[in-house]
Amino acid sequence: MSLLDEIKAKASARNKTIVLCEGEDKRVIEAAAQITKEKIAKIVLIGNQSECKKIAPEVDLAGVTLIDPLTSDKTAGYAKLLYEARKVKGMTEEQAEEQAKDRTMFGALMLKAGDVDGYVSGACHSTANTLRPGLQVVKTAPGINTVSSCFIMIAPQKHEYNPDGVAVFADCAINIEPTAEQLADIAVTSAKTAKAIAGIEPRVAMLSFSTKGSGNDDKFTQTVPKVQKAVELAKAAAPELALDGEFQFDAAVAPAVGQLKAPGSKVAGHANVFVFPNINAGNIGYKIAQRFGGYMAIGPVCQGFAKPLNDLSRGCSVEDIVATVAVTALQAE
Ligand SMILES: CC(C)(COP(=O)(O)OP(=O)(O)OC[C@H]1O[C@@H](n2cnc3c(N)ncnc32)[C@H](O)[C@@H]1OP(=O)(O)O)[C@@H](O)C(=O)NCCC(=O)NCCS
Repeated sequence: MSLLDEIKAKASARNKTIVLCEGEDKRVIEAAAQITKEKIAKIVLIGNQSECKKIAPEVDLAGVTLIDPLTSDKTAGYAKLLYEARKVKGMTEEQAEEQAKDRTMFGALMLKAGDVDGYVSGACHSTANTLRPGLQVVKTAPGINTVSSCFIMIAPQKHEYNPDGVAVFADCAINIEPTAEQLADIAVTSAKTAKAIAGIEPRVAMLSFSTKGSGNDDKFTQTVPKVQKAVELAKAAAPELALDGEFQFDAAVAPAVGQLKAPGSKVAGHANVFVFPNINAGNIGYKIAQRFGGYMAIGPVCQGFAKPLNDLSRGCSVEDIVATVAVTALQAE
């Protein structure tokens, strides 16, 4: 069974309820029907009957709960919830009433209220517009201040540097130049994702162009001390975690190089979770693995939220939406 099939099977056994916010998108409507038919999760689709019929007349939405913020009796209660969450930021009751009718905000409020277990959007909205409602009202998990993302990288075949056949790369999509504190959060939450979604025992490498002080840093960027500080902070926050650094990629995955450059490290040479120093390195790195290495990338998987929210790519397929819903169901408590 492929990892993706395993994720879908595990999601199915959990029977979670996931909201899909974009009933105006044909792929989302098709995915809602497919997920329901395959019993991967229960779906709440934000949209209305006549709109869905017009966009996807052939799709049978039996078993999908449709909800329209413009007519729902839940909207007034959600507006109050939004007002309570955002009045400290200057939001008025009138603004909350208006914003609660927005489909992505309505979905995030459903999640906050506990009426669904997870949120998936982004087929026709930008990353910022998809994640902002979650950042504003769902907020971060206890002990975590940073929402980040990772890719689950599935190898075309197992090899000596990746005996699990799967790895986690973070953060490749959200935090552009994370601080040491944010990198530590990314490390801790990526380890959690590795366990929950990839099904592996995490061994976290904090990546750099330097291994244990070998590289001379530039006086302006100061990347090496940043990663070194992140290692300290992450170890303090999660002492039980197998985590180390700073490592070059070869020291992280090749046992001989790891032992040469970081003797005694339990993670060096055996890492399966890779935390990149910034989004440039992470985004370029995952695409190299994908295009040159033939890895399949599942994600970006968002992590660090108090409850699971995930962002689709605007180029996503129906299958991508189905997979993202399954991942979201596995992240739900
Ligand atoms: C995550 C992101 C989408 C947030 O954008 P944004 O809504 O413009 O963010 P803002 O700075 O206005 O912040 C909105 C709120 O979210 C919070 N926030 C923003 N980023 C956060 C993060 N990574 N973790 C936790 N909270 C965050 C802010 O503190 C703020 O909270 P507040 O309003 O309660 O004070 C932004 O970081 C981004 O655009 N990242 C790059 C995305 C990208 O281009 N990726 C490439 C795709 S591959």
